Amino acid sequence: MNDSPEIITTVRDLRARVSGWRRAGETVGMVPTMGFLHDGHMSLVRNSRAQNNRTVVSIFVNPKQFDRASDLEAYPRDMDRDAALLAAGGVDAIWSPEPEEMYPPGFATSVDVSGLTDCLCGATRSGHFAGVAVVVTKLLLQCLPDRAYFGRKDYQQLMVVRRMVADLNIPVEIRGIDTVRESDGLAMSSRNWHLTEAERAVAPQLFGVLTDIAEVAGRGEDVRPTIDKGLKRLERAGFGAVDYLEVRDAENLELSHRPKRPARAFAAIYLGKARLIDNVPVDTPT
Ligand code: PAF
Repeated sequence: MNDSPEIITTVRDLRARVSGWRRAGETVGMVPTMGFLHDGHMSLVRNSRAQNNRTVVSIFVNPKQFDRASDLEAYPRDMDRDAALLAAGGVDAIWSPEPEEMYPPGFATSVDVSGLTDCLCGATRSGHFAGVAVVVTKLLLQCLPDRAYFGRKDYQQLMVVRRMVADLNIPVEIRGIDTVRESDGLAMSSRNWHLTEAERAVAPQLFGVLTDIAEVAGRGEDVRPTIDKGLKRLERAGFGAVDYLEVRDAENLELSHRPKRPARAFAAIYLGKARLIDNVPVDTPT
């Protein structure tokens, strides 16, 4: 039985704890989350634990990255369950500030990463990446870990964070970790919680469609006919509005119908109330 991780709620206490570890010569890994943890998060924790002496997991449902107040309110939360999972996962501390600690009255700063945030989720979710960028900047500066871990499921977020950390000289190494999937291929996500049983049964078809598109792209063929077929298949399966289903460059995220450089197939599509996002790598011909 592991000791329960300490729950830290003020920046002052977080800094004191982390600087104590650093003085003792220990390295620190950070896993930023919004809680309601699943095995995708725990895989980030396992990576951090394997690569650092100490691991801090932040749990903060960031109001600035939600475009609608109703989404923020509906976001699932369960601190007791999260704390138990993190205790079993051997985490050292949970950084769980109240919104007023993160954004005190008068808070007025924004962090805007241009270019990378115009496409994919940035095209439809106005303000989302500005909200992510400001909170991740704050989380990294509050904790100052050696390394921070982000899932490739939110691939655009990972690219935005990498760009921002490089541009602002934030002294933290960003590590991207592969998506964890259910046995039928569905990417793990807190949003899967919104799926009904019938929706859950068809949800893995999204991964199937992305895999088909990535295979065609990997053969050096134009992906557009396969994307059209995929859209029809998803519609027949009961999926709703499509935000995007496309192939983009893995680094600059530019649209690419016949990629010659490392690329990924990306999707965001509604299934009932859930907006599912996923992406898979394309093995481009050399
Ligand atoms: O990926 C998430 O859960 C969030 O966007 C993050 C990185 C914790 C920032 O709030």
